[in-house]
Amino acid sequence: MTSPYIRKENQSESDDIVWHNTTVSLQERMQLKQQKPAVLWFTGLSGSGKSTIANAVESKLLSLGKHSYLLDGDNVRHGLNKDLGFSDTDRIENIRRIGEVAKLFVDSGTIVLTAFISPFASDRDHARKLLGHDQFLEVFIDTPLAVCEQRDPKGLYKKARAGHIKNFTGIDSSYEAPTNPEIHVKTANSTVEECAEFVVKNLIDMGYLSLEEARHAL
Ligand code: ADX
Repeated sequence: MTSPYIRKENQSESDDIVWHNTTVSLQERMQLKQQKPAVLWFTGLSGSGKSTIANAVESKLLSLGKHSYLLDGDNVRHGLNKDLGFSDTDRIENIRRIGEVAKLFVDSGTIVLTAFISPFASDRDHARKLLGHDQFLEVFIDTPLAVCEQRDPKGLYKKARAGHIKNFTGIDSSYEAPTNPEIHVKTANSTVEECAEFVVKNLIDMGYLSLEEARHAL
């Protein structure tokens, strides 16, 4: 799909812009922070629990003395991405920008949590390529549509079913579930606390947190 945003970006590309290497390196920032930065890329339907679980995970990281930052879809759409709607083109641009912002945060040494529906597999793959495999962890918040619709925390499914919201994910806009996420959280029969613990346990197993550190958070 062609994106008007990408075209604009290419038009402004210039030979006169040269990458400037910073004096302080990522390794030095990691050393200072005593952590291994990465993006925990939460994806799932609206109402699946992405933001709630990401917040709970971030609280656990804080209690471990880890520096983190949560980029949340609804919040980022109030500022950086307030010019974007919910057409396929705008969603692609939404996720492209978040991938770039997440990359900058990771380069600062921060553990980033992103909570966006990010419905298209190709956009998530693009973010993965941008960050690299060891800095991108896809966290699938797997909550069936029927459960999300029943919860309907913001009343949006009701509005979408009534035809008052167009292009609503799961109703008249598609969601491509991850096929091989690093962390697969099945929420239907678990509490938020259990889901957050599950994510932290996976971070230990993958070497992003040490067992010693994590004892305090579990
Ligand atoms: S994404 O598809 O581009 O990744 P994002 O996560 O930023 O979406 O925003 C999703 C949030 O916007 C939802 O949780 C919901 O609160 C709100 N929203 C408003 N309109 C829509 C819509 N048409 N489809 C999905 N979510 C919507």
